[in-house]
Amino acid sequence: MTVFKTDPAYEVKYVPGFLDEDLRASIKQAVTAIPRDKLEFHELEKFGRLVVHDWPPFTALQSEITGMVSELAGEPLEPCYNFLSLYARRGVCETHLDTPSAKWTFDICIDQSEPWPISFTSIIDWPETGEALVDQWQAVKEGRSGHAIRAMALEAGDALLFSGASQWHWREPIAPAKGRTFCDLLFFHYIPAGTSELVQPRNWARLFDVPELAAIKGIELAV
Ligand SMILES: [Fe+2]
Repeated sequence: MTVFKTDPAYEVKYVPGFLDEDLRASIKQAVTAIPRDKLEFHELEKFGRLVVHDWPPFTALQSEITGMVSELAGEPLEPCYNFLSLYARRGVCETHLDTPSAKWTFDICIDQSEPWPISFTSIIDWPETGEALVDQWQAVKEGRSGHAIRAMALEAGDALLFSGASQWHWREPIAPAKGRTFCDLLFFHYIPAGTSELVQPRNWARLFDVPELAAIKGIELAV
């Protein structure tokens, strides 16, 4: 799984003005045109957001910029999944790590009531056990992990690239705005080129020739 680990020297890359005004306007229009029955409500409680996965116009854009994101990441990539995230006044994002399917996340701000910082640790060593994972998560939350912490606030149209599978990341509760409180973000996930089979836990029993892995509850659903 080494291919999914990230160079410890990697620093989050910030791309100011990634969306020019025309592209930003067309994305806003595409968001408005999404039929209501395509909005996913399952993260409303925990994150205060509505999401839409792999919406075709966004998947097309994600694919188009693969070369540019590969340059930023410093390795050849291929697109994995993406989602649009429409945060509202209860927006928050708990400290977490992503699975290897989000080794790289290109986070684009479409529009927002006010800039809303996202915080990252430096690149971590993957904890080897579930217990170590929870310990590290707690240490990060309590500010005693020893990792360097960096916060960045995107302006509308700006983007950044971080390594979600190797950097703890979070957003504090969104600050209430005078008018509507919101933050519309796109999350494009990328994996190293050629790893689309390896990244899927459902394939591990076969790829590693360890049939017992197929018996892990929920492994066929994990991404
Ligand atoms: Fe994440």
